[in-house]
Amino acid sequence: MSRHDKTIKDFGEQWRQYSDNEGYYGSVELFSDILFPFLAVEEIKGCRVAEIGSGTGRIVNMLLQADAEHVIAIEPSEAFEVLCHNLLEPEKVTCLKITGDQLPAYGNLDYVFSIGVLHHIPNPAPVVEAVFKALRPGGRFLVWLYGKEGNVLYLALIRPLRVLTKRLPHLVLAFLVDIMYWPLVLYIKCCHRLPLPLRGYMLSVFEKMSPEKRRLIIYDQLNPSYAKYYTRLEAEKLLSDGKFENIQIHHRHGYSWTVIGTKP
Ligand SMILES: C[S@@+](CC[C@H](N)C(=O)[O-])C[C@H]1O[C@@H](n2cnc3c(N)ncnc32)[C@H](O)[C@@H]1O
Repeated sequence: MSRHDKTIKDFGEQWRQYSDNEGYYGSVELFSDILFPFLAVEEIKGCRVAEIGSGTGRIVNMLLQADAEHVIAIEPSEAFEVLCHNLLEPEKVTCLKITGDQLPAYGNLDYVFSIGVLHHIPNPAPVVEAVFKALRPGGRFLVWLYGKEGNVLYLALIRPLRVLTKRLPHLVLAFLVDIMYWPLVLYIKCCHRLPLPLRGYMLSVFEKMSPEKRRLIIYDQLNPSYAKYYTRLEAEKLLSDGKFENIQIHHRHGYSWTVIGTKP
């Protein structure tokens, strides 16, 4: 099985274990933080949008709460059933069990979002190409990616660990996550007093999550077969190679990239 197919299978299993989007994890408050500084939640009202890699429908439901007119939700894994089950307003959503490169060339979408997905796709260029065709002229593509800059120490720890953890069965990995949870709680407490690595993310995002969602986030770092951490240049190039213009990039909480581009 290819890394691409294995990653999709890993997510299918992950989202059947962690299937809800409760609390801050699924909130419009977090969506606003993800879109900052390029878009306000209010700008989505009345728009035709798509999300590539919808998982359990967390971002799709945020788009519905932002009053999008219609949402195309793309999810290729076995999480598809969870996605369809979780929708707040199913009549406003078209769910497609396909990979991002198969997004139909609608040509009339106002926005396409891909939040935490392209860094799990070994060759994302065909996805970016499909998004370009699906947007209307002037339509915008907003992507959120793991960043390399700001994660140097974290990557030194997580990369060797992932060699093992991405091969572990669910119950063993969930047990390991339970063990790692408590030192992380202590780390967050220390972040309040010390300028430690990932402090911005820990205090602005991670600390606001429920204990269950914190465990999911740790699991999500250790489970998928393929995960790439993008440099600023690589993140910008992803969209510029796909013919997007007016590309802007933001180093979100100092550890990840929010990138936006416009179809001319
Ligand atoms: C980290 S999850 C993000 C889910 C959702 N966007 C969110 O933020 O809650 C990544 C998702 O991308 C999906 N995915 C992986 N490869 C994909 C591909 N080639 N095309 C579309 N989605 C893909 C996975 O199945 C998984 O559900």
